[in-house]
Amino acid sequence: MDVLFESPACRLDEIPDGGAKGLVVPDPDGGALRVIVLRRGDRVLAYRNRCPHRGTPLDLRPDDFLDRDGRYIVCATHGAMFRPEDGYCIAGPCAGDALTPIAVRVENGVVLVDPFEPEL
Ligand code: FES
Repeated sequence: MDVLFESPACRLDEIPDGGAKGLVVPDPDGGALRVIVLRRGDRVLAYRNRCPHRGTPLDLRPDDFLDRDGRYIVCATHGAMFRPEDGYCIAGPCAGDALTPIAVRVENGVVLVDPFEPEL
């Protein structure tokens, strides 16, 4: 798979292990794409920061994406809950829908987001 574009987003150590961080990276249309990056040890996952229910960002307060136990991603607007491992919505008004995955990897401690290549 050819990577067309990668945006250095942040350093891995800026994301708490087990936590999440919101980023804004250039999108394929020349605009800005809101992204959530989740860290699990040295592993990262990323999704568009866009709730499938109404299309709003999931966080009302910056980087506040997870429930109290850190088990699920929660939409602050109406409380939809998403599994971190695949973005699937397990509860809320968009149950059965899912967050849009974004290709992401870590290289030399830097988180690289590739908004041109959605992770399928
Ligand atoms: S906008 Fe996210 S649950 Fe309604």
